[in-house]
Amino acid sequence: MFEDLPTPTLLVDEDRLRANIQRMQSLCDAHGTELWPHIKTHKMLEVARLQIAVGAKGLVCAKIGEAEVMRASGARSIFLAYPLVDPLHGPRLRALVESLDELIVAATSGGQAQALAKVLTSAGLRLPVMVGVDTGLGREGARSVEEAVSLADFVRRQPCFTLRGFFTHEGHVYGTGSSGSAETVIAAVHERLMRVRERIDPSLPVWPGCSRTAHRMAAMPGIDAVRPGTYVFGDLSLVSADTPVMDWDDLALTVLCTVADRPEPSLALLDGGTKTFTSDKTRDTNVHGALYDRRDIHVSRCSEEHGFTTGAEVAGLRIGERVRVVPAHVCPVVNLADEVVVLRNGEIAATWRVAARGCVQ
Ligand SMILES: Cc1ncc(COP(=O)(O)O)c(C=O)c1O
Repeated sequence: MFEDLPTPTLLVDEDRLRANIQRMQSLCDAHGTELWPHIKTHKMLEVARLQIAVGAKGLVCAKIGEAEVMRASGARSIFLAYPLVDPLHGPRLRALVESLDELIVAATSGGQAQALAKVLTSAGLRLPVMVGVDTGLGREGARSVEEAVSLADFVRRQPCFTLRGFFTHEGHVYGTGSSGSAETVIAAVHERLMRVRERIDPSLPVWPGCSRTAHRMAAMPGIDAVRPGTYVFGDLSLVSADTPVMDWDDLALTVLCTVADRPEPSLALLDGGTKTFTSDKTRDTNVHGALYDRRDIHVSRCSEEHGFTTGAEVAGLRIGERVRVVPAHVCPVVNLADEVVVLRNGEIAATWRVAARGCVQ
């Protein structure tokens, strides 16, 4: 049935997408935890609207450009979970504030908070601020409880800020192997966040954010909101045998490709390479993607427009055959596509524009 579609094309199973969105929302609702989904994964207004319709409290974006697009989803609250410092952002932040009920920004280090204070002051803005806490990823955020305390003190002293709470992105949990070590990371992240809040202000909310931890974090004491993104579609990182938090049958996005050549019996070339799958690979199996029908066939290497597929069942692939591939990491794959083809009940039903694709400014 996909013979009429040009390839590579992203296919989104809307029934599964809706089920994934509802499942995460119901889990959060059951624990009285707010859900603030990160739109980085889908970048589509249609998906944001589904998230809001079932109860998402607000949306999380990294870049201002994403938030500017996401305004049209009907979201009233947006958290920009990114270290903003650029004076050019002042007027754009002001325009966003005027069209939302709440725009929250992030303070992630002393230097960044000083720069952001200048941006807000010259734009005449006073905004709520989440203090970023590094819980092990080693990206942005206060590196220790003491550093978080001084960052929060700085935020409280600035007339352009109001201290709104604390956030982290515990993405290092993707590097853990067995479920036992993921649990250890989750416990350590939780403990760090609780200590930060206890030292600064026990009444303020704490927001971790990651699809691999959300189901656990949402149920933990003292967690007020979670901010997963990848859960809407899933990918190999979330169904990996090590710590599966989704089932294979929950996967809602696949990449439809055509077998372009069979230069050797043990190698087939797909018409999607890094310009479709990106250079991201799974950490455990080191592949860009795996066949959705679960044949033992993997995209093990990519050049720009070629996906090198290998595995025990490659010999069964025919030149011209359409195959569906589950990407290793879905978020950057979506960002490379202009639109997705939407399946309802297995039938092609619509195309949705990836409205915020490429909005990295
Ligand atoms: C700041 C922030 N919050 C939330 C998320 C969502 O995490 P995940 O991709 O595990 O759903 C990310 C992902 O990169 C992030 O950077």
